Order: sequence, then C-alpha cells, then structure tokens
Amino acid sequence: MILVTGGAGYIGSHTVLELLNDNYKVLVLDNLSNASVESLQRVEQISGRKLTFVQGDIRDEAGLHELFSAYPIEAVIHFAGLKAVGESVEKPTEYYDVNVNGSLCLVRAMQKAGVSKLVFSSSATVYGEEAPAPYKESMPRGTTTNPYGTSKAMVEQILTDIHAASKNTANPLDVTLLRYFNPIGAHESGLIGEDPQGIPNNLMPYISQVAVGRLPELSVFGDDYETSDGSGVRDYIHVVDLAKGHLAALNKMFSNKEAECAIYNLGSGKGTSVFELVHAFEHENGVKIPYKVAPRRAGDLATCYAAVDKAAKELNWRTEKTIKDMVRDTWRWQSNNPNGYKK
Ligand code: NAD
Ligand code: UFG
Repeated sequence: MILVTGGAGYIGSHTVLELLNDNYKVLVLDNLSNASVESLQRVEQISGRKLTFVQGDIRDEAGLHELFSAYPIEAVIHFAGLKAVGESVEKPTEYYDVNVNGSLCLVRAMQKAGVSKLVFSSSATVYGEEAPAPYKESMPRGTTTNPYGTSKAMVEQILTDIHAASKNTANPLDVTLLRYFNPIGAHESGLIGEDPQGIPNNLMPYISQVAVGRLPELSVFGDDYETSDGSGVRDYIHVVDLAKGHLAALNKMFSNKEAECAIYNLGSGKGTSVFELVHAFEHENGVKIPYKVAPRRAGDLATCYAAVDKAAKELNWRTEKTIKDMVRDTWRWQSNNPNGYKK
C-alpha cells in the first residue's frame, strides 16, 4: 500500500488515479485545508477502484504512528504542503511549520515504522536565479527568494542528511526528490483538475477562470523580458505526465538494490511564453481571453525550463502530452466544472 499525503489536492489526486490504474493500493492522508473529498470520489469513479481516505494532519505525529501501525504501508509519496509563494511571505511561520516541521514528523513516523521509501514534491524554484536554464539536477541549489521556496530547499537538505546518516543502518531512508516545473492541465475525463481557492496565483488557472467568466481579464506580468516575445517563459508539464513521473520514480525505488537520495526534474524541457500559452488556449478552445500588459511580478524569472535527460535515462520517463493537450484538458475541466468541486 502507498501512503499519499496531500492526495486530495491537484497533483495528488491525479497521481492517486495513476496508482490505482496501476493496481497499487492507496491510502490518502489529507487535512482538506486546500482540497475536497469530492476529488477522491471522482478518482474512484474514473478508475472503478476504491481507495482509503483518512482526514488528518501530517504534523499530528501520534496520528501518523496509528496510520503506520494500522496499514501495510510500503512507500510514501509526500505532496501535503502549502504552496502559494506570495502567501508564504505573509505567513512564514505557517509555511515552515507545515512544509518543514510536517515533513520531519512524517519521516520520524516512517522511521519508527520501518518504512524507508519516500518520494518528495520539490520545485524548480530551488534552482534559484543564479544559473541560466536549462536547469540540471547536478547544479547546486541557488538562493531562494521566499519562504515557500526556502521550505522546499530546506526539506531537500534535511532528507539528504537523513539519507546519509541512515545509509549504513538497518533501515536506510531511500529518497527521491522530484523537482516539478509548471504543472497544468487536467485528466482527460474532465472530472478532476485544479481548483484553487480565491483568486488564482498561477497563469493557467487564471486564464481558465477568465475564459469561464469568473474573472474579467488576465494581467500579463511584463512584456519586456529578454525572451522571444517579451513575456515570461516556463516549462509547462501536463499533470497526468507529472503523475506518471511519480510512478516511474516509485517503480525505480522498488527495484533499487541500495537506498539512494536521487533528484529528478519533472518537466518537458521546452519553454512556452505567456503569450504563446494564451494564444494556444484561445485557438484550441475557440474562446477569447481578454488581457492587459501589467508590470513585472516581483521575484519572477524571464526563463525557466528543465534539462530532462536524467529522468529519461534513469526513470525511463518523459512527457508525452503537448501544450495543445494541456489547454484542451484544462478547458474541458473548467467548462464542465465552472466552480471547481463546488456544486
Ligand atoms: P494542493 O494544494 O492542491 O495539494 C496539497 C494538498 O495537501 C491539499 O490537498 C491540502 O489539503 C493538503 N495539505 C496541506 N497541508 C496539510 C497538512 N498539514 N496535513 C495534511 N494535508 C495537508 O497543491 P498541489 O499543486 O497538488 O501541490 C502538491 C505538492 O507539490 C505541494 O507540496 C507543492 O508545494 C508541490 N509543488 C506544486 C507545484 C505546482 O505548481 N502546483 C510546483 C512545484 C511543487
Ligand atoms: N503570469 C502572468 N499573469 C498571471 C500569472 C502568471 O503573466 O496572472 C506569468 C508569470 O509572470 C510567469 C508565468 O506566467 O511568467 C508563469 O507564472 P505562474 O505563477 O503560473 O508560475 P511560476 O513559474 O511563477 O511558479 C511556479 C509554481 C511555484 C514555483 C515556481 C518556480 O507555481 O510554486 O513555479 O518553480 F515556486
């Protein structure tokens, strides 16, 4: 059985679906602070399989011990966390508590239960601003510019240290750090997708909420970057490809002879600008996205995309879906569910 923390969320729910499709038994632990159980009900509907859901917090160590005693957990995929960059600047205590302290509680409970395999949701943000794209796993982590990014870099370091310290013990920690680039899109059924609370911080959900009439217009944050059309360039990855990357990482860990601390980028290796994504969305879906050009957003890079060779070689995984798939699937989800999981 695989324990998936944060499994009711955006990336978690898509990954749980792929795990069920691959015949894994799944236990989801989520406190529902940024998700609803409706996503998991829909995952069961799409897959035709059942999962086990426990509502709880990763910082509740006693609760974690109970879970590890009650279920035959072989590995953990750890998505649970807070993820809004701007909010992390306002609420650093909460971000370090959930993301860093929560991860420590989880690892302690795993070690106590003798569970050694852990996949952790990290982010391209840990590369910082110093080095130019494409970002390679061999590059050192850079300077992070907000508590969210710092919390991801800290947990990467903590897991690296715990792996090293436990390497020659009876229960070495086997860790995979997955650095996501920009996950967008939705399952092709249109039944599950991204459902941000309040005004979206990220580009794709903002575009789709403009398209569905929940927001009047998009602000394009800067058209004077040194990129092909002046707008910011990112490496967008379809969430279903991303979910499959977790299965590839898990399968590799199950075949590892020795515990490792491995790092992989999960990205497409291709850059797409804000204007290109807006135009693709309009063209593929036959809708208009009104926009205005606004000043640059603090902390944004001009260009960010992944080097993808390491994941291709060692995980035998690469992205399959295109920008067209991403914008079509986003629109199918958003137009079928204008208010997300709320009825
Ligand atoms: P999400 O908010 O949809 O999912 C996170 C889930 O964790 C939610 O269901 C939430 O209810 C749950 N959760 C939060 N705090 C918890 C706690 N204390 N105990 C138990 N559950 C808790 O976010 P997502 O986009 O699916 O992201 C999943 C992970 O991937 C996060 O760790 C995020 O930082 C990381 N990540 C996301 C992106 C992205 O662009 N979406 C990029 C890089 C990394
Ligand atoms: N953008 C706009 N208008 C918007 C929102 C975004 O023009 O309303 C632009 C941004 O300036 C950027 C691009 O769209 O050029 C993508 O922005 P997102 O907010 O969608 O994504 P980011 O690359 O800024 O952030 C993502 C994750 C973070 C993570 C970061 C670095 O959301 O969690 O990548 O890895 F920290």
